Amino acid sequence: MDLDKLRTTACLDLNGKRVLVRADLNVPVKDGEVSDATRLERVLPGLQDLAQRGAKGIVISHFGRPKGAPEAEFSLRPVADKLAELLRRPVAFASDCIGSVAEKAVAALRPGGIAVLENLRFHAGEEKNDPAFAAALAKLGDIFVGDAFSTAHRAHASTDAITRLLPSYAGPLLIEEIAALRSVLDKPERPVAAVVGGAKVSTKIPVLTNLLAKVDKLIIGGGMANTFLLAQGVNVGRSLAEPDFTKTALDIMHAAKARSCEIVLPADAVVAAKLEAGAAARVCPVLETPPDQMILDVGPKAIAHYIDVLSRCRTLLWNGPLGAFEIAPFGEGTFRLGRAAAAATAAGKLTSVAGGGDTVAALNAAGVADQFTYVSTAGGAFLEWLEGRELPGIAALVRAAR
Ligand code: 3PG
Ligand code: MG
Repeated sequence: MDLDKLRTTACLDLNGKRVLVRADLNVPVKDGEVSDATRLERVLPGLQDLAQRGAKGIVISHFGRPKGAPEAEFSLRPVADKLAELLRRPVAFASDCIGSVAEKAVAALRPGGIAVLENLRFHAGEEKNDPAFAAALAKLGDIFVGDAFSTAHRAHASTDAITRLLPSYAGPLLIEEIAALRSVLDKPERPVAAVVGGAKVSTKIPVLTNLLAKVDKLIIGGGMANTFLLAQGVNVGRSLAEPDFTKTALDIMHAAKARSCEIVLPADAVVAAKLEAGAAARVCPVLETPPDQMILDVGPKAIAHYIDVLSRCRTLLWNGPLGAFEIAPFGEGTFRLGRAAAAATAAGKLTSVAGGGDTVAALNAAGVADQFTYVSTAGGAFLEWLEGRELPGIAALVRAAR
């Protein structure tokens, strides 16, 4: 897949054109209110640009996981209201994404106007990548813009089939996300470090396998580090670990060695008997993990070592927290390494790219997300990219550009 083939609308005259934009408006909503508007903020510049160029912007998205039929709790209406507030302009809302309701809303748009259509997943055809559903969507636009990088790992009607029916272009957020990932993985300034955390080795085997061939240092934290420690014969007490995957961990270590990639594991840890706020926690070398306790964060020696490794790197890719950061005091490892990465980035010594749901929440909790070079809006799509997989929503846009 030649990503350089992706084309944008930059050279098009969009005045009066109906532009169907596939965005990812799948944001957290609590009690009818958007609780984290990051994804909306990131899609704003692209929508503002369309409006300024006199296009009629028709935004389509999924929201949550309804089962192919309308469900009130998955309505995009509150999200559309939030988008209007952030855009500081009216945003029309259509209570269906196809058919006469949607067609009327689109017909009422003036150049520069924006409408959001109801949840695509209220129709079973969306997730089935159904050409008939895609055709009903395609009727609403003159051109299609794919701007949902975070949904590009889904081959759905609004990310794939539609690109066969309308002239299709890559949106600015999608281009930005791809450029950030390529800057870290394709032609990075070396040395490159990857921080990979999270609970389980089993879910990150393809990520680790792909990364060890691309990065110089693989810093491992989170529950998955315990499985690596176990593989080396360390008794990790009652820590979360996957004994069935110690062989996998050893294979990964051997493969890394063969590629001159150094795997960095924690030498000490913060342990407690329970994962509870304010639990009596203490620091110990991983080799002395008490049999009745759990490793819940990396320890100060590990953090100092990770920071030292990072200080000798020029590029950082971060996915996954180093400890149970949501519960104090088990967030220190993630927070301190996050602050060190942010400071090195601010000093111009490091290009730092982070992504994945928990990761962004952890870096936000550390107050450093906005100091990273780039923070992805994607969760699953970011991981699949790190696995080296082709994302169908991007492949579709490359194919459409030929
Ligand atoms: C996400 O939040 O990861 C994307 O919006 C995709 O949602 P999905 O996992 O329900 O397809
Ligand atoms: Mg997901």
